[in-house]
Amino acid sequence: NEIRLFSPATIANISCGFDVLGVALDSVGDEMVIRKVSEQGVRITKLVGQDLPMETDKNVAGVAGLALLAASDYQGGFEIEIYKKIKAGSGIGSSAASSAGAVWGMNELLGKPFSQLELVKFAMEGERLASGVAHADNVAPALFGGFTLVRSYDPLDIIPINSPNELWATVIHPQIEVKTSDSRKILKTKISLEDGIKQWGNVGGLIAGLFMNDYALIGRSLEDHIVEPIRSMLIPEFDTVKAESLNAGALGCGISGSGPSIFAFSKGESTARKVAQVMKERYEEIAVDNDVHVSKIN
Ligand code: HSE
Repeated sequence: NEIRLFSPATIANISCGFDVLGVALDSVGDEMVIRKVSEQGVRITKLVGQDLPMETDKNVAGVAGLALLAASDYQGGFEIEIYKKIKAGSGIGSSAASSAGAVWGMNELLGKPFSQLELVKFAMEGERLASGVAHADNVAPALFGGFTLVRSYDPLDIIPINSPNELWATVIHPQIEVKTSDSRKILKTKISLEDGIKQWGNVGGLIAGLFMNDYALIGRSLEDHIVEPIRSMLIPEFDTVKAESLNAGALGCGISGSGPSIFAFSKGESTARKVAQVMKERYEEIAVDNDVHVSKIN
């Protein structure tokens, strides 16, 4: 009647795929304990590691859990303990990890009545609370693992994407907070045909590169002509960190989700660690306690 679980951090957008591409990181994530109780509803009984609301309707795990409960014929309820290892506002899917973990754990305890796709829909309600928009590019990879593509939102269509064997991610979280809701407000809602052409060329190239294990193609597809030029203004030293990461051998580098975290993909662990070193050194000049994660992508 109780489950302990790990819910991974995720990199959303992956440069060219705003709101549609994401990938799970196995090296960092939230831990949760979920318990079946007779009392109806969802209660957050413990929240350790971050200063976040514990009221069910103000907590992303609570809201995602309520969405699952509303679709279920289960008459009891759940208690949730959340041990946050992902900082809120870091850009590596903090809200998604809690939302996805909650619904995944509840579904296991109920004997898996819901499909993965349905779980994504419930978890998206947590994202709606966190950012104002029910985007799925963090919750889908958190639930499916690896890379995912949101081919369509209506109807929801999630496509799992292959991960090449030697693909590694490096992510640095400079210690500044950027709220997804704020960094969405500054985006333009219209794009030019010219930018669209570049962007969907890159999305296609990235997906093809991932399936063909073509690291060079992955690298040259990691471009973003629409969101990065605007959001990078919120991230000190972004252009320098990107240039230095590429110089250190990264295949590509961009903003993780809505930032301020920056991610780079590399072929092989040693390059990924070299990139981590370069990123760390750059940010040591600006802030202390910047978190760096190096993960093999599975
Ligand atoms: N696609 C979302 C955004 C991801 O960029 O706003 C947030 O993590």
